[in-house]
Amino acid sequence: MCGIVGYVGNKKAVDILVDGLTSLEYRGYDSSGIAVNVEGKVELFKAAGKLQNLKNIIEKNYSEISKSTIGIGHIRWATHGAPTVENAHPHSCNCGKVAVVHNGIIENYKELRAKLESKGCTFRSQTDTETVAHLVATKYGETHDLTEAVRLATKEIEGAYALCVIHQDLPDIIVATRRNAPLVVGLGEGENFVASDVPALIQYTKKAMYIEDNQIVTLTPDSIKLIDIDNNPVEQKTEMLPWEPVALSKMGYKHFMLKEIHEQPDVVRNVLSGKLRAIDENVILKEVTLDREKLKDLSRIQIVACGTSLHAALVGKYLIEEFCGIPVDVEPSSEYIYRKTITDKNTLVIGVSQSGETADTITAVRQAKSKGSHILIITNRPDSTMAREADSLIPVNAGIEVSVAATKSYIAQLISFYLLAIYMAEVKGVTDLSDLKHELIILPQKIEKVLAHKEDIQKLARKFANFKDFIFIARGINFPTALEGALKLKEISYINATGYTAGELKHGPIAMLDDSMPVLSILMSGKVYDKILSNSEEAKARNARMIALTDSTDTKLDELFECIIRVPEISEILSPALAVIPLQLLAYYISEFLGKDVDQPRNLAKSVTVE
Ligand code: G6P
Repeated sequence: MCGIVGYVGNKKAVDILVDGLTSLEYRGYDSSGIAVNVEGKVELFKAAGKLQNLKNIIEKNYSEISKSTIGIGHIRWATHGAPTVENAHPHSCNCGKVAVVHNGIIENYKELRAKLESKGCTFRSQTDTETVAHLVATKYGETHDLTEAVRLATKEIEGAYALCVIHQDLPDIIVATRRNAPLVVGLGEGENFVASDVPALIQYTKKAMYIEDNQIVTLTPDSIKLIDIDNNPVEQKTEMLPWEPVALSKMGYKHFMLKEIHEQPDVVRNVLSGKLRAIDENVILKEVTLDREKLKDLSRIQIVACGTSLHAALVGKYLIEEFCGIPVDVEPSSEYIYRKTITDKNTLVIGVSQSGETADTITAVRQAKSKGSHILIITNRPDSTMAREADSLIPVNAGIEVSVAATKSYIAQLISFYLLAIYMAEVKGVTDLSDLKHELIILPQKIEKVLAHKEDIQKLARKFANFKDFIFIARGINFPTALEGALKLKEISYINATGYTAGELKHGPIAMLDDSMPVLSILMSGKVYDKILSNSEEAKARNARMIALTDSTDTKLDELFECIIRVPEISEILSPALAVIPLQLLAYYISEFLGKDVDQPRNLAKSVTVE
């Protein structure tokens, strides 16, 4: 949550900060601000609401602001204090010489604030971050060294943070540090950059250095100094980022979400590439470093994840249990970390995360690691904090996902679970999965067929856009699809949508049904088809507005369902990877029709770095 960016060099800092914040908008977007050093004075510019409001302020003051060649910027997802101008970052100290931007939560801010107030510091906001500004200013007063002031301050701060700090008297120095929040430095010629994430740097430099917890980095235009919290120098490891700036363009689509939905056939091809070459060859998954004998003897698997990644994990459970006969528990990371979990060295713990920065999932995998479990991470960000906790790392290669609502990363996680489950089954020697392999190879074409009929889903979306509630029902392997379809809809259209196992409908939710309730049945051919059909009859008998999502060509369905979304025929086991596509489109078109902010829905952030 929250994005931070810093620049020191020879160019107009404001342009780079604004570009950086624009590319970090997915991390939060309820207020924003920058601090620059204009002719020896630190100036703050802040705005509540979307980044455009800050851009408008900057435009009005551009001739003044653009004189600065150093600056820090912030885009906020509020935790402490409402999203007002006062609470927007950067924050400053009494004398106004220090400016700080922060991503994370300072857990002991109340004690620090009381201590600082007793020393005469005057607070202007309700944030936890302002304590850091006062604390650093106090330490600077004692040391006259900004790096040392930040280092001493971090010794007193508890919690999670990525921080960037500037001081008025030092017009070419930024000091940054992190603990349990991401931070990356970009190295340029006569200029250096720092940010929460790569998109803020990638159009300026591909040379990067990831900062580790409790390290403090000092940037000037021509130098980088890296130390640890005990003031020892740290070896600087730079790497070339593999990304292209073009990945951040909408490429003619109205929204990133629509573009990312359309990228899914290629994402599937990418994930399969090199791992599944032919149906008569075994899956190659070199990323799994767990010894094959140990893998055969695994007594249990636990999967931890949040949000959309949790739904991919639920499909993964189904596959691994079905193919390998190993019991799999799936749990939201936020629950897993607050109870006694039975985990040991015979347990494989899988963390699933698009961003690799979700705080709850990072804590969950660290907890399991401390008990000796092998940690397998499935993530779209092999450069993330979570990836660095991995014993085995499966990068899902979906490319950067900008829309807050996850689509292509979900399909990439699903396909990764199919490969993992087949790989494990082959190691165990339990089953012949050549039919499934064949279907995986032709899946991209089937997704393309669904996308080619998107106008039908757009029409359906218009018909149902004004309903206040929505129910998605399914059974078996598509229950997670129902959850994901409902999550997509509520995330971006704010319609109260819920996914239920179809069999549970009659145990409570059926009481809600009448002609104001659309019920979307995920009715894919297979062993639960007839059961869902009966459950749909039950819903229809209560006057619910029935929609089917099916690969069946049975014309009798026309009597039961008011609308039918038809997808190409597919085996039940692979059907979640196809059935989710129309549900993503349905959510997209409803949101777009209602005029909602599709890519940046209210109250959400793409990367949730607080527990
Ligand atoms: C946030 C996002 C969701 C995402 C969830 C988990 O809530 O808005 O789209 O599914 O975090 O994120 P992760 O990066 O761990 O998959």
